[in-house]
Amino acid sequence: MPNVFRTHYAGELSLALEGEVVTVSGWVKRIRDHGGLVFFEVWDRSGLVQVVADPTTVDYEPIKQVRLEYVVKVEGEVKRRPSGTENLQHRTGDVEIRISRLTVLNACKPLPFLVEDDAEVQENVRLLYRYLDLRRPRMIENLRVRHSAMQATRKFLSDNGFMEVETPILTKSTPEGARDFLVPSRLTRGHFYALPQSPQLFKQLLMVAGFDRYFQIARCFRDEDLRADRQPEFTQIDIEASFLTLEEFLEVNERLLEKIFGELEIPLERPLRRISYKDAIETYGTDKPDVRFGMHLKDLSAVFSGSSLEVFRKAMESGGVIKGLKPEGLNEFPPKEQSVLEEMARSVGLGGLTIIRREGGALKGRLTRHFSEAETSGTIETLGLGDGEWGILAVGPNARLCTALSQVRLYFRDKLGLVPAGSHAFLWVVDFPLLEYDEAEGRYTSMHHPFTAPMDEDVHKLEQDPLAVRAKAYDMVLDGNEIGGGSMRIYNSALQERVFSLLAISKEEARQKFGFLLDALAYGAPPHGGIAYGLDRIVTLVVGASSIRDVIAFPKTQKGTCLMTQAPSPVSEDQLQELGIRLVKSKAETGGLDA
Ligand code: AMO
Repeated sequence: MPNVFRTHYAGELSLALEGEVVTVSGWVKRIRDHGGLVFFEVWDRSGLVQVVADPTTVDYEPIKQVRLEYVVKVEGEVKRRPSGTENLQHRTGDVEIRISRLTVLNACKPLPFLVEDDAEVQENVRLLYRYLDLRRPRMIENLRVRHSAMQATRKFLSDNGFMEVETPILTKSTPEGARDFLVPSRLTRGHFYALPQSPQLFKQLLMVAGFDRYFQIARCFRDEDLRADRQPEFTQIDIEASFLTLEEFLEVNERLLEKIFGELEIPLERPLRRISYKDAIETYGTDKPDVRFGMHLKDLSAVFSGSSLEVFRKAMESGGVIKGLKPEGLNEFPPKEQSVLEEMARSVGLGGLTIIRREGGALKGRLTRHFSEAETSGTIETLGLGDGEWGILAVGPNARLCTALSQVRLYFRDKLGLVPAGSHAFLWVVDFPLLEYDEAEGRYTSMHHPFTAPMDEDVHKLEQDPLAVRAKAYDMVLDGNEIGGGSMRIYNSALQERVFSLLAISKEEARQKFGFLLDALAYGAPPHGGIAYGLDRIVTLVVGASSIRDVIAFPKTQKGTCLMTQAPSPVSEDQLQELGIRLVKSKAETGGLDA
């Protein structure tokens, strides 16, 4: 059946169609009246095409009415544009449609902002009128990339024996460790569902059920502080497989990544690079390093072991370390920029940074006059400082210092343009510790989640030396961003109980939270493992967006709100009553009094 509204999409028109009569429907842009001839552009999802009307030969009435973003149907002949008037910015820039008939299908109110890529619009206005913001070509392109990534995922996984299964949204708490979003039950008053932080427990149950290979493009919900790469609801490419070793599983994943990124024109070379958690922290200060440039961290603790400087000595006496790095190719480093770095260090709880510069055989900087000769030459040698080069030193507890220096690396990456545009580095981070010690809570916690399997050769250390036990866990890091993470799982109830007891999760608590999974593990659970990739993060990196919000059709603000729908919003007293809920004002709202 011929389509009444269009024979072609606007963006498809080209010289190959010269002389043909076509119909396009879409929205109006850039109206210009050039001495009698009226020009404007008609755009749709595919792109745009210039149209031109000669009021002396066509019905001028509807053409007069046309305003920005009106919806129109245009019929006319495809013509080559006169020489010199082509627009090379557009695919259709060498043709135009000579209108023979224009129908206005709908009007559009005056716009709150210009629907153009380069229009500068505040984000809250964009989010309020998201449907207009999404009309901008860049936003449509971002979502098209997202669509391609999803289709490539579905195709590859389905072709490789993975079955797409949906898991519940109204469920119980899952073990990822963020705060849950709760949904009150009307039928069982006083009880709550939790929205899933991931399909973790269900996908393991599917393995027990014999599904062998599962995937889902799954919506996950986490009530945590939001950042540029975090949303309260986000999408995972969630995968689980049985009867595969860690190596075999990673190999399938590398082929999946090759397929997804290949579709998005980012080649990757298999096998992908790997780094152990320990090396990542030592060399880059983070477990999600950007390995596209060097600037490795160097340990200077030995150089300063006998330091006369009180700040250095005291920090080391209380278990701290001294580390440093050399920003490659840094010539000028004005005090204003130095204070940006110092603030960065203070924000993670370090006293500050020591910024030094080599001048001949000496070091210049705030503390350097207290350095002994051996400390000076040891620093120059360890950091590899040439004459006139800068170095950054930090002293303090290792974890905080690593955080600060890893941020310093990224600061210089951006300032010095150390990474060529369009270059990417994929990296598996492996050999994670199974546990970490939470000082505040005074107990061990899982580094991934409590179902992560320990390395077989480390299981015997579980009770004697828990922090030395490595996990069969892996993260996928792209350009310094964690885009995925997973593990081989514990599939034996006895081992699972040992891990729970290390985590100080009592039998009762384990039963109450995960009893159904523990039961299932006792009914013939196969060896299994899985991973989840953050789809939003992948697309953000591929399109080079500065925020995850630019690749989600209807995202939330940093405060977790939707400006367009006004969610979350108050509900009626009747609704609350039905749920058996009474609202209590916080102390802040009542001026310090309990409501
Ligand atoms: P994890 O918690 O590491 O693992 O999550 C997997 C990936 O999801 C992405 N991600 C997010 N993206 C946007 N906004 C957020 N708030 C957010 N939180 C996480 C990250 C991350 O790498 N069930 C396990 C996976 C498994 O073991 O199979 C899990 O959810 O890119």
